[in-house]
Amino acid sequence: MISPADRARPRATCRACGGTVVQFLDLGRQPLSDRFLTEPEIPQEYFFQLAVGLCETCTMVQLMQEVPRERMFHEDYPYYSSGSAVMQKHFADTARQLLETEAGGPDPFVVEIGCNDGVMLRTVHEAGVRHLGFEPSGKVAEAARAKGLRVRGDFFEESTARAVRASDGPADVIFAANTICHIPYLDSILRGVDALLGPDGVFVFEDPYLGDILAKTSFDQIYDEHFFLFSARSVQALAASFGFELVDVDRLAVHGGEVRYTLARAGARRPADRVAALIAEEDAGGVATLARLDQFAAQVGRIRDDLRALLERLTAEGKRVVAYGATAKSATVANFCGIGPDLVSRVYDTTPAKQGRLTPGTHIPVHPASEFPTDPPDYALLFAWNHADEIMAKEQAFRQAGGAWILYVPHVHVRD
Ligand code: SAH
Ligand code: TYD
Ligand code: ZN
Repeated sequence: MISPADRARPRATCRACGGTVVQFLDLGRQPLSDRFLTEPEIPQEYFFQLAVGLCETCTMVQLMQEVPRERMFHEDYPYYSSGSAVMQKHFADTARQLLETEAGGPDPFVVEIGCNDGVMLRTVHEAGVRHLGFEPSGKVAEAARAKGLRVRGDFFEESTARAVRASDGPADVIFAANTICHIPYLDSILRGVDALLGPDGVFVFEDPYLGDILAKTSFDQIYDEHFFLFSARSVQALAASFGFELVDVDRLAVHGGEVRYTLARAGARRPADRVAALIAEEDAGGVATLARLDQFAAQVGRIRDDLRALLERLTAEGKRVVAYGATAKSATVANFCGIGPDLVSRVYDTTPAKQGRLTPGTHIPVHPASEFPTDPPDYALLFAWNHADEIMAKEQAFRQAGGAWILYVPHVHVRD
């Protein structure tokens, strides 16, 4: 029975199946997470309502409102995948594994959707394998071309996929990392994959995993670009409605916990046992239930209260607090929790395209990470918590000198 409270929940149409999406969390008015501003740009800043819901029919968790893709992915898109040494190794390993298992035939062809600066395809290219990257964001695509890669500056969708099939023939592998969850027009993507993929080919994509997001209350994985939060069950349903089958799932530690999904044409491969095992685990944990998602929403509110209280106390005590990592994820945290330059004086980051600018919505100045050791604060709020090992190893001197990290995943705590 639908309770009166459920009836009052806002609804939207599911972008995966056309069913009804029921809202469970509202994260408020939010800016574009990767739009770092100059001072004169502040009055024109774009905002949208960030809320997330569950599809009653296919269990896909998704945003209630879509941001037009050209606002997010354009000439100056500032995220460079090669900015993390750990991710460089992850993608080199991924490419080698794909080449070994899926590119054994004569003249194999590997396509990547959202190749960014070429962090994965460079290994494919070095192996002498035919490849093509789709990358609509201008400067990151240019960085990939500078590595000798073949890049098409288009959004992958049905029409562009058909064009590549006509000019280049079928693909053995279509790969995407941290990109399919960015794309509301999933129907066009799957029709495009259908058009471009060879009969025995695989569509492999990895994205932040709903199970990990719930387990860690990592609500900062929710922002304009992360339209979908996938689970094995929702991806299985999606695959089935487009003539594909989910044949493997691989849990990954990167970016705070992801799953790599492997789709093949229906009936072409026997699904690995771990597909059913992961779905059973999701069902046992109630991953796709409003009861579990409401509990998550309540935990998010607690993190906001705890983080604000901690930062306000430290500020009142006269401590110097900065942040580390101008991540897209941190736009959600900073704007939802109301963290501006009054609580965190600056954010350090290695990305030249973000430095000298202001963070989205809360307008905290971004400084080069190279300056962090020269002017050590008392506390550093680790916005790039998914790169904690890499960053803490690099910045060991900070803690040795008495500094402490503030983390908010899986709950607010201080590591000194
Ligand atoms: N694969 C990289 C980049 C992830 S960021 C990594 O894992 O680090 C997401 C990228 O997808 C951006 O570079 C963006 O420009 C690109 N993108 C967004 N929509 C796309 C589409 N429809 N087709 C191809 N690329 C897309
Ligand atoms: P990331 O968490 O990978 O993604 P998103 O922006 O999608 O949330 O972003 C990491 C950010 O942190 C990026 O701007 C680069 C920066 N960074 C550093 O400043 N130093 C580092 O050592 C690493 C690994 C990242
Ligand atoms: Zn649905």
